[in-house]
This record gives sequence, structure tokens and C-alpha cells, in this order.
Amino acid sequence: MVLYNKTMKTIFSGLKPTGEMTIGNYIGAMKHWPSSQADSRSIFFVPNSHALTVRQDPAQLKTRTLDLVAWLLAVGVDPDESIILVQSMVPAHAELFWILDNFVTIGELSRMTQFKDKSGKSSAEGQLAGLFNYPVLMAADILLYSTDEVPVGEDQIQHVELTRDIATRFNNIYGETFVIPKATTPQHGSRVRGLDDPRYKMSKSDHPDSYVALGEDAESVIKKFKRAVTDSDDKIRYDPKSKPAISNLIEIYAGFAEVDIATVESKYQQKGYGEFKQELGELVADKLSVLQAQFEKYRSNETALMAIIEQGNAKASQIANEKLNEVKSKIGLL
Ligand code: TYM
Repeated sequence: MVLYNKTMKTIFSGLKPTGEMTIGNYIGAMKHWPSSQADSRSIFFVPNSHALTVRQDPAQLKTRTLDLVAWLLAVGVDPDESIILVQSMVPAHAELFWILDNFVTIGELSRMTQFKDKSGKSSAEGQLAGLFNYPVLMAADILLYSTDEVPVGEDQIQHVELTRDIATRFNNIYGETFVIPKATTPQHGSRVRGLDDPRYKMSKSDHPDSYVALGEDAESVIKKFKRAVTDSDDKIRYDPKSKPAISNLIEIYAGFAEVDIATVESKYQQKGYGEFKQELGELVADKLSVLQAQFEKYRSNETALMAIIEQGNAKASQIANEKLNEVKSKIGLL
């Protein structure tokens, strides 16, 4: 890892172990993380405590947490260049969460769109307080590491904005303590949409036809792209407003082929949807098979995986405890 000095940017982000990783998680977030390693202090983590807002099977939660660490390694996060940690193993996250919970209002948390979406139609009696407080734990994650940039998909921007508000409020009262972070999103692919309905974000919690998982086999990937909905005319043209379905597929193509949107448009200018979707399916399946081989390599050696986690947790704890102690001392906690 590059030795940290205050002029160096800190990049911090994570993935929740609540289900299979999708190509949305990949294009919107993970894919971009390794590129920051060379010239920034890069910290990536598995927010497993965040998963508790939905009842989890304990064995499955453990497995998925380790799976995610293996996926981080598979996409190119290097434990010698970045810090990889598991949230529940660095108690400073939970401790700062409680402190910050007193620097945010019920009104602010009520306005979080993810809370509104996820709490759905249930009454306050049926809603878990953890789901409501979710963004505060996220603020603690980010602020513990003096994060400058949080590379995320579009759905997390509002949470990072709230983190900024919480940090600013704290700094205004107690003096410069937290770095004010900003969310960064990729120009394209920050909101990969469902293959069956482009009105909705691609999500692992939706119908399997709507998403492609990172662990999916080639046959199934190709079939899903063949079945993906398209728009009424037959032009492969990027226009998210009037052609949301094909624009989504173009973004996925661009994300996997590492080319820009115009390159995809010109390549398929004279071609039809059928050919485009077939080739897109093959492109994604090929790339996933490379990632899957890497994933298997890391996932099959749990001892080595745990050693990577322990090493990352130790480095992370040092940074996190220092910030937590600064905060506690400023607010008068012994
Ligand atoms: P999570 O686990 O839902 O998603 C992980 C990352 O993937 C992005 N993403 C997408 N990007 C584009 N298109 C999609 N369809 C799509 N679906 C997901 C998400 O925006 C995210 O960047 N709250 C976070 C986890 C978290 C966190 C943090 C992230 C907890 N603490 C601190 C950053 C910093 C979450 O649930 O992400």
C-alpha cells in the first residue's frame, strides 16, 4: 500500500452481503475500485452488520461475507495495496454509529428514499429501527477513515450526502474533526436497470430474470440477455429517455467491453437487436468466467482468506480507533 500522507486521497467503499452480487454492483461500483489503489489510500469493506436490517440465516451470512471478500480480490483489489476489512470485526464502526446517531434527526432519516422504499407500506410498528438508522452506520463507516471519495452507484448518493451533513454539523460544534466526503459515480452504469423492466434498478432482491449474478454460468447469462426487453424501434441508439431498455444494454456492453457508448453505437449501427443481444450475452459471459475463476481461486482457501481479513482489520482498526478516540475526547466521553 502507498504510505499515507495527508495530501493523499482516501477512497472508501463497500458491498453488503445480502445476496448474490449482480453485474449492477460490478459496473456501478466494484469494477472501478482497483484503479484507485496505486495513488490513493484505498479501503474496501464488507458491511455485514448492515445486513442485519433483514433477518439473515447465520450460516449464510458468514458464507456471503467471505464470498464478498473473495469477489473483491477477484475484481482486482490487492490486499497489499488496499485495506480490506469486515465491518463487524472493527468495533469502532458500531461505536461511532451511536455517537453520530445523536447528530442526525428523525426528520432527516425519514427522508431517505431507500428507507421509504424498503419500509414499504408497513406501519411504524412493523419497521425495524435498524433500517431507519442504516444511513448513520454508513456515515460512521465513511467518517472513521477520513474518506475523501466514496465510489458508489447512484442509489447510495443520498446516504453520502447525509454523511456530509452529519460531518459538517459535528465539525461546526467541535471543530475540524471529520473530512467531508463526496460520492463519486461512474459516468455510465451508475444505475444499471432490470433486464425485464428498465424502470427499476437491477437488484439481487428482484426476480432472477431481471438480473445477472456475477456467479452465473454462461448459458444462463446468454439466455437472460436474449430475453432482455428492448424498445419499440430496432435501432441500437443510446437515448435513456426514449429508449431506456436498449440504452441500459448499451451501458452494460460499454462497461464490460471497457469502451465508450459511441463505440458501441457505431459498432452496431447496421445491426439488429438479436445480434446485439447475442454478442452482449457472450461478452458478459466471457468476462464473468474469468472473474469466476479468480473468485474460486480465492474462495477455495478459507485460511488464506481469513488471513487477508485479519491483516486488513488490524490496519483498519488502527486508523478507525484513532478517529474514534479523537471524537470521544472532543465530546467528553471517557
Ligand atoms: P449495496 O451492497 O446495495 O451495493 C454495493 C454497490 O453497488 C452499487 N449498485 C449498483 N450500481 C449500479 N447499478 C445497480 N443496479 C446497482 N446496484 C447496486 C451500489 O450503489 C453500491 O455502490 N449501503 C451500501 C453499503 C455500504 C456502504 C457503506 C457503501 C454500507 N456502508 C459505506 C459505501 C460506503 C449498500 O447497501 O450497497
